[in-house]
Amino acid sequence: MQQTALVVGARGVIGGNLIAHLEHEGDWKIIGLSRRGGDDTAAVRHIAVDLLDRDDTASRLAGLTDVTHVFYAAYQDRSSWAELVGPNLAMLTNVVDAIEPVAPHLEHISLMQGYKVYGAHLGPFATPAREDDPPHMPPEFNVDQQQFLERRQATANWSWSALRPSVVAGVGLGNPMNLAMVIAVYASMSKELGIPFRFPGKPGAYSSLIEMTDADLLAKATVWAATSPEGRNQAYNITNGDLFRWSSMWPKIARFFDLEVAPPLPMNLTEVMADKADLWNSMVAKHDLVETPYEDVSSWRFGDFVFGWDYDVIADGSKSRRAGFHEYVDTEAMFLRIFQDLRDRRLIPAG
Ligand SMILES: NC(=O)c1ccc[n+]([C@@H]2O[C@H](COP(=O)([O-])OP(=O)(O)OC[C@H]3O[C@@H](n4cnc5c(N)ncnc54)[C@H](OP(=O)(O)O)[C@@H]3O)[C@@H](O)[C@H]2O)c1
Repeated sequence: MQQTALVVGARGVIGGNLIAHLEHEGDWKIIGLSRRGGDDTAAVRHIAVDLLDRDDTASRLAGLTDVTHVFYAAYQDRSSWAELVGPNLAMLTNVVDAIEPVAPHLEHISLMQGYKVYGAHLGPFATPAREDDPPHMPPEFNVDQQQFLERRQATANWSWSALRPSVVAGVGLGNPMNLAMVIAVYASMSKELGIPFRFPGKPGAYSSLIEMTDADLLAKATVWAATSPEGRNQAYNITNGDLFRWSSMWPKIARFFDLEVAPPLPMNLTEVMADKADLWNSMVAKHDLVETPYEDVSSWRFGDFVFGWDYDVIADGSKSRRAGFHEYVDTEAMFLRIFQDLRDRRLIPAG
């Protein structure tokens, strides 16, 4: 039977790269959900829907009887951890309530999570984090989402899996969490202004251990977990497989952008970059870039969040390897590939 993927959050940095991977695999029928919708291709049909609206979700998903796999990577951003719970749990619930009764061949629901399950966002947590580490004090929307799936799966024919990436790097626009874009735009602006490349995070963040997850690697792992017996009702940390410190990565990124490195200077990017829309617009005109609104390239709040981690942010990725997923990515090569891709697409200046 033809496999049909319902990618929830199709315009996200994770969902968009997942669709690209499924298209590349070639044997999937793909349906993408987001509020913005998108241009259909031979393999992908986009549906614009507000998943917070239970009735809208039910009526727009009513005809999706062929769906075999749900890949859930939608996300509603909020300014506090507690506020994230309601909308993010409601969107998942609305999707499952809508699709379960109409899709008799539903095999699997894949849930995108992250290191927040381990409390990485709260402060120094036990590292390397393992999938079976004990839970922490709520609120935590990733945990509520997983518990919802576990409860529903107990009386269902489908299985679930949960993927726990580190910071995800991929090409995407208009995403609140996009570190590659933060670095690329920050570096391009430093160059435009003729100033050196300074790490803007906390002093301790420069020397702490961190790891990344390439969006394409994550897509491969997500499909592997959703289609392998080892993935059934399991959670997996998914990481590139190497660790680094910004103190060693920053000069390599500087070299790509042909910038001098100067000592770090802690700054609040949300504040410091707030007045840079005119600079961005002038760069778009001068370098003949694709016209992208400044809001769509600036996840500065996320930059402040990640560059504020003055403690190790690492998880143990061995469970997925033991279960049969053996892909890895060189993180330096990943950054440079993404920056080159952004240049080739004329989203940032070429040099
Ligand atoms: N990015 C990272 O570095 C990272 C790292 C670890 C874990 N994660 C986790 O991965 C998940 C996905 O993150 P992401 O960074 O890919 O998010 P994202 O780029 O913000 O994408 C979110 C997606 O959800 C859609 N969406 C939001 N509200 C919607 C609504 N009401 N109805 C329909 N669609 C809606 C958005 O499209 P529209 O705006 O068009 O609706 C978009 O397609 C999150 O749970 C996040 O915590 C992310």
